Amino acid sequence: MSVISADHEILAIHGGQPTRTTLLPYGRQSIDESDIAAVVEALRSDWLTTGPKVSEFEEAFAAFVGAKCAVSFSSGTAALHGAAFAAGLQAGDEAITTPLTFAATANCVLYQGATPVFADVEPDTLNIDPEQVASRISPRTKAVLPVDYAGHPAELDELLRFADRHGLVVIEDACHALGADYKARRVGSLTHMTVFSFHPVKHVTTGEGGMVTTDNPWFAETLRRFRNHGIDSDARARHAAGQWHYEMILLGFNYRLSDIACALGIRQLSKLEANLARRRQIAARYHQAFREVPSIRPPAVRDYADPAWHLYPIRLRLEELSRTRDQVFQALRAENIGVNVHYIPVHLHPYYRDRFGYKGGEFPVAEDAYQRLISLPMFHGMTDADVSDVIAAVGKVLSHFADNAVAV
Ligand SMILES: Cc1ncc(COP(=O)(O)O)c(C=O)c1O
Repeated sequence: MSVISADHEILAIHGGQPTRTTLLPYGRQSIDESDIAAVVEALRSDWLTTGPKVSEFEEAFAAFVGAKCAVSFSSGTAALHGAAFAAGLQAGDEAITTPLTFAATANCVLYQGATPVFADVEPDTLNIDPEQVASRISPRTKAVLPVDYAGHPAELDELLRFADRHGLVVIEDACHALGADYKARRVGSLTHMTVFSFHPVKHVTTGEGGMVTTDNPWFAETLRRFRNHGIDSDARARHAAGQWHYEMILLGFNYRLSDIACALGIRQLSKLEANLARRRQIAARYHQAFREVPSIRPPAVRDYADPAWHLYPIRLRLEELSRTRDQVFQALRAENIGVNVHYIPVHLHPYYRDRFGYKGGEFPVAEDAYQRLISLPMFHGMTDADVSDVIAAVGKVLSHFADNAVAV
């Protein structure tokens, strides 16, 4: 059944009643009393940072994704920087990544003085295309950074096989994909290093925060040093040993995640399975509502994937509409549906254009998707009524803007 209704209510953008009276954001954290109690307990403890909650969170996280090691960071961006450092990226090196991501994925390569090289995405999942990666390799390539866009895992086995052949490190940006499965295996245990974010719109939040998981103890040790000024021991280990002596052995940063944040992360992680189940229910309702709407291309799900649904990005079939994506976006905002766009392709940001001379047209699949993408609200705290509001508003707006609709 189509959600496009025949009756043409007046759009809010044209002075009609909005679908909702309050704005529904595209993403939002869920904090309950148990989260608050956990933070208060951490505040009352002896350790506000570098204490026991850090290793407790890291161990619980590693167990959840099935990795040997997890190293926490002060943000997903800091975690990406750590992974780029541990991979040995430096001036003169290249790392291949997708243009359809948040800028931090490519920026971490620049932080190391290396050069990000973009490879276009696959038309269905909008994840990096392994064939395009192969065409971008050079003697300077040292790493590949796939992104699990919207929470759908990239073609990891193909990328790993390719990386193996060429001696590359795969740093998977799974900031969207905590809890996703790839061929019945959990994201976080599959590539050389996998990076997560705990920003409030993500599946688990610590306010700001990030994590790298790895099975490689050398990467883990390097990551721990890098986030702690490059120092060879941590404060708690020195305290336990009654020692003061430490040495700085590499140039690191203060990228530590506090015990206050980790206490919140531990509580949040314990609710992750329920949160994922709710996101999957919401995605199923959207799929059901939108799959036969001519002007909507819902996100694709490959057989091998059980996505984590950080985002629900639809693509508009603009050929069926009399308006642009931005006009549809404005009309949905006026209906109080907090839509968003993920992402302006990284190479089109002014910084990348100025520095590398990109002009547009280099990555046609990502650029075409960008013209059409709208992320609908997707977070585990959404009620059934919220989901119905989104479906109703999308139907209302698109029925007005369908090519054959009477102009208002
Ligand atoms: C794909 C991707 N990579 C990296 C990041 C950076 O994470 P953070 O905001 O925790 O620094 C984000 C955050 O939005 C992201 O979506």
